[in-house]
Amino acid sequence: MTDLAVSLGGHLLRSPLVAASGTVASVVDFAATASFAPYGAAVAKSVSVEPWPGRPPPRMAPAGQGMLNGIGIQNPGIDAWVDQFGAEIGSAGVEVWGSAVGHRAAEFAQVAGRLERAGVGAIEVNLSCPNLAGGMPFALDAGAAAAVVAAVRDQVSCPVGAKLSPDAADIVAIAAAVATAGADFVVLTNTVRGAGFDIERRTPLLAGVVGGYSGPPLKPVALRCVWEVHRGLPELPIVGCGGVRTGADVVEYLMAGASAVAIGTAHFASPRVGKRIRRQLLGWCRRHRVSRVAELTGATA
Ligand SMILES: Cc1cc2nc3c(=O)[nH]c(=O)nc-3n(C[C@H](O)[C@H](O)[C@H](O)COP(=O)(O)O)c2cc1C
Repeated sequence: MTDLAVSLGGHLLRSPLVAASGTVASVVDFAATASFAPYGAAVAKSVSVEPWPGRPPPRMAPAGQGMLNGIGIQNPGIDAWVDQFGAEIGSAGVEVWGSAVGHRAAEFAQVAGRLERAGVGAIEVNLSCPNLAGGMPFALDAGAAAAVVAAVRDQVSCPVGAKLSPDAADIVAIAAAVATAGADFVVLTNTVRGAGFDIERRTPLLAGVVGGYSGPPLKPVALRCVWEVHRGLPELPIVGCGGVRTGADVVEYLMAGASAVAIGTAHFASPRVGKRIRRQLLGWCRRHRVSRVAELTGATA
């Protein structure tokens, strides 16, 4: 059977499949619904220092072949998070990653430190929320993104991944800045900003009007980001993310330059989708005589 193990800059994962943040709740609670056996890691919903109430409803809406969400990173705050889930991190059946979010670099660092002490295997830095200092998302500003990653790097010794936005004007410049600041890998990408309207009611689909667009239509956009960053920074490990539904999608991300591939929105249609995707990935590798999935990274003709 094909060896599914991959490495993110020396950090080994038993499978290239990662469950994306915000789509498997705290991981610990989702584990009661679906097994995490097909995955190499699963990322908990982003958490901040203080509780964030999130945006008012409606917060999720189908839009074309994808989905809009404007949840506003609702979360209970790091104290409640650790109280509620900390003790079970070791029994989720998968390596759990934490996801830190904040409005200032120091807040990200504080959350990251607590997540690491709670036992997560790596930390994603969710750079898609606005920087209180300028109002612009950290992920669109190389200097601000790097400052956050440097603060987190200072605080923890586990691997740190910077989750970037496809809205960035120059994704390679942002990836280079966070890598220099100490990110061990980048996650490409978070949702793309989008909006939709109900023309009968003459209302926006989301209370906040603009939200994040995810699902299959995001795939070519995220693949472009993966390809550009892999070409510009070939040593920087990448977790590809956006619109993955099948094993073929995973192969496509690996060939574009990813070392691991995250599954997000597909969990809402089918919480056990990882099992099918893993089977399809193994089938593809068998048919193409690929003995190690890691050899597919960047393997285009
Ligand atoms: C409902 C929902 C909530 C999300 N919450 C988070 C979050 O808390 N932190 C984060 O980094 N990404 C979050 N994401 C983004 C996903 O992790 C993923 O990057 C994005 O949806 C693209 O992948 P997909 O097309 O497979 O869903 C969320 C996505 C959705 C759909």
